[in-house]
Amino acid sequence: MWGLSLVTKTGRQDDDWQRAILHVILSEAKNLSRDETLRFDQGDKLTQYPVAIWPSKLQRMNGSTFMNHVLEMTSENSTGVIGLLNDVFRTSRGVTDQNMATDYPLVFAENNFRFCRLIELDGKVVSHAAIWPRELVVDGERYKVGVLVAVATDPDYRKRNLAATLVQSLMDSLHAEEYDFAVLWTGVPGFYEKLGWHAVSTGGELVTLSRETVLSSVQENKEYAISPFQPDRHLTGVMKLHDDEPLRFARSPDDAAGLLTIPKYSNWVAEKDGEVAAYVVHAHGVNRLGITEYGGEQSGVLHLIKHVMHGLPAGAELPWFLYPDQQDLRTWSQQQGFSTRPLESSKGRGTEMHYIINKARVTPELANRFFVWGVDQA
Ligand SMILES: CC(C)(COP(=O)(O)OP(=O)(O)OC[C@H]1O[C@@H](n2cnc3c(N)ncnc32)[C@H](O)[C@@H]1OP(=O)(O)O)[C@@H](O)C(=O)NCCC(=O)NCCS
Repeated sequence: MWGLSLVTKTGRQDDDWQRAILHVILSEAKNLSRDETLRFDQGDKLTQYPVAIWPSKLQRMNGSTFMNHVLEMTSENSTGVIGLLNDVFRTSRGVTDQNMATDYPLVFAENNFRFCRLIELDGKVVSHAAIWPRELVVDGERYKVGVLVAVATDPDYRKRNLAATLVQSLMDSLHAEEYDFAVLWTGVPGFYEKLGWHAVSTGGELVTLSRETVLSSVQENKEYAISPFQPDRHLTGVMKLHDDEPLRFARSPDDAAGLLTIPKYSNWVAEKDGEVAAYVVHAHGVNRLGITEYGGEQSGVLHLIKHVMHGLPAGAELPWFLYPDQQDLRTWSQQQGFSTRPLESSKGRGTEMHYIINKARVTPELANRFFVWGVDQA
């Protein structure tokens, strides 16, 4: 794979532009050696961005690119998109009680339709990919992050470069809109490596909680009033606890309300003196499982975990995501002797991958610290 750098006018992505660029790259590429930089200059108001290109792809794209087939989601084609995604990610895996539209309410919200891209062939939606635009806050500093989600091609239309075209179109937009970096979780890292993404490993541990150990080791504390999360009563208190995290995705009240009411989450709060002292998210979906998010004082979190475990059958076990910064909870977990393994990715499974856009801002040190917190996983 070569590292090339294109300099071009923001927004020009039509057919002629593509053909012109590909023509220049193809004629220049044979003279380039690995890692050399090609500058392609189209006048003033320039944006510069690196593009990972390899010769066989270039030849193919030059012959038949699907870039001019890329559409944005609309209320008309949304049914076709969700139908394709449900077929690929839900029904074909035997899951009939979850729907991609309600599992990812902020991705498929109308204000994000421009970042939900699709290709229609033979009168139907055959490929889709989306970006969920977020803002990562690290020690008060804000970064623009694109979360790549819901990438799928109809099985009858695979290996025609459709998904790669959609992902590339989204990556072009992230560059044009000066995002800092992008993240995804996948079972097919090879597909994304070809597009310039790289696999990362996150810190943290996946603990297997055992019901009986939790019930016997967490002592009763009558100070806490435990109840199911209710947005109108608890949203502000839960958001405040989340906002105290040194590393988190920023959430507006609408974001937080949307995320905390996704189907297959049971969320609990512990109140003390009328204030939300702690909360936990218990996920039980095909794509999310376990205690994935929690916040507030440690003993409150443990009380809530005990409450969740109490509701499970005897002998039950439950995954618990111990994030890298949770040293006190890790110590408690070690004392209980739970079985533990390193978290494969901040989602608990699959390969986590990054695509760094602004290398000056997103240093390797920051990228190593990066972690997606609980309900922000896609
Ligand atoms: C993964 C998936 C989206 C690929 O869609 P597609 O439209 O067939 O992909 P493309 O034709 O654009 O593939 C582009 C390149 O990636 C390669 N590729 C495709 N699927 C791949 C895979 N599973 N592993 C490794 N490489 C893969 C292709 O061979 C092609 O490489 P080439 O140009 O060198 O031949 C599709 O197989 C799918 O929907 N899978 C099920 C859902 C899924 O796993 N989605 C990803 C979740 S994050």
